[in-house]
Amino acid sequence: MQPEASERLEELVSRALEELENVKTIEALDSLKTRLLGRKGLLAEAFACLRTLPEDRRGRFGKQLNEAKACMLERYEAKKRQLETGQNANPSSSVLDVSLPGPLPQAGKAHPISQVQDEILAIFLQMGYSVAKGPELEDDYHNFEALNIPKHHPARDMQDTFFVQNAEGFLLRTHTSPVQIRVMERLGVPVQVVAPGRVYRRDFDPTHSPMFHQVEGLMIDKDVSFAGLIGTLDFFSKRFFGPDAAVRFRPSYFPFTEPSAEVDVRCIFCKGEGCRVCKNSGYLEVLGCGMVHPAVLEACRVDPDEWQGFAFGLGVERLAMLKLGIDDIRLFYENHPSFLPQF
Ligand code: DAH
Repeated sequence: MQPEASERLEELVSRALEELENVKTIEALDSLKTRLLGRKGLLAEAFACLRTLPEDRRGRFGKQLNEAKACMLERYEAKKRQLETGQNANPSSSVLDVSLPGPLPQAGKAHPISQVQDEILAIFLQMGYSVAKGPELEDDYHNFEALNIPKHHPARDMQDTFFVQNAEGFLLRTHTSPVQIRVMERLGVPVQVVAPGRVYRRDFDPTHSPMFHQVEGLMIDKDVSFAGLIGTLDFFSKRFFGPDAAVRFRPSYFPFTEPSAEVDVRCIFCKGEGCRVCKNSGYLEVLGCGMVHPAVLEACRVDPDEWQGFAFGLGVERLAMLKLGIDDIRLFYENHPSFLPQF
């Protein structure tokens, strides 16, 4: 045999084995295989020169060639297995390493408005209230009339209403107060409920949205007093905003309560010293409340001489903005992926 041919084959094999060892991806391995073992590959070339050898030498060289081929194939198969199982994991490789921890799926969670609403309800449930619901598509009677807001009453101007076209007398409820009526009609008295839900008004700016959420409260029994209302809302504020929260009751007017009040909490941003958020007043308005008007009880066939009660209505967005330090209500509805996960 020509010593040259044998030596060149040895050199070819040792270079091939080194390249097979260092290859990093399956694609590179496969193109290396074509270059070495393919039909027009280096080994095929070596086989071709077999024919040029004197006959007596062909046997040994042929054997050497077959051994070289088997050796390269074996290394190729081993490397392929290694890359496929990712033992040689390389970030640039497309090999899937099933033993690596995968990316965690993004977990969904409750919207901040739902979280705050649930928190509000939980505080009242602790005080013995149950949850009631009413329809969002409401009739004029429950939204206005029965709440002592007759037609042409100026208080209707307080709430810019969405009326439903082609359905006379129907509207999107402007507040959750009609649930007071529905609950008394359905359950009678005594009663102690909180009613969460969506309400609608024609309003749109950084602090108003055409759809927002309220939680209504109603407590009717014998011997219910304004002092009980103050105690209830003071307890709620301290639970919701923290033990330092201070509430202030300001006389106000609502047709369905008498007397009526608005409740302010001491500004949680400046602790009452005055800042931009509270417009230097030191307080923030959070809800309306009062003793249920006798006309409302009568509309529900409840005798006002025997029963009294209080009611309150709070804005969930307003409380959420204060608690979470958000100054534009519209952020709640845009559902931006950089906004929602913060809560
Ligand atoms: N319904 C009133 C509104 O949307 C809020 C309210 C005020 C509810 C006083 C009440 C209440 O129950 O007693 O502005």
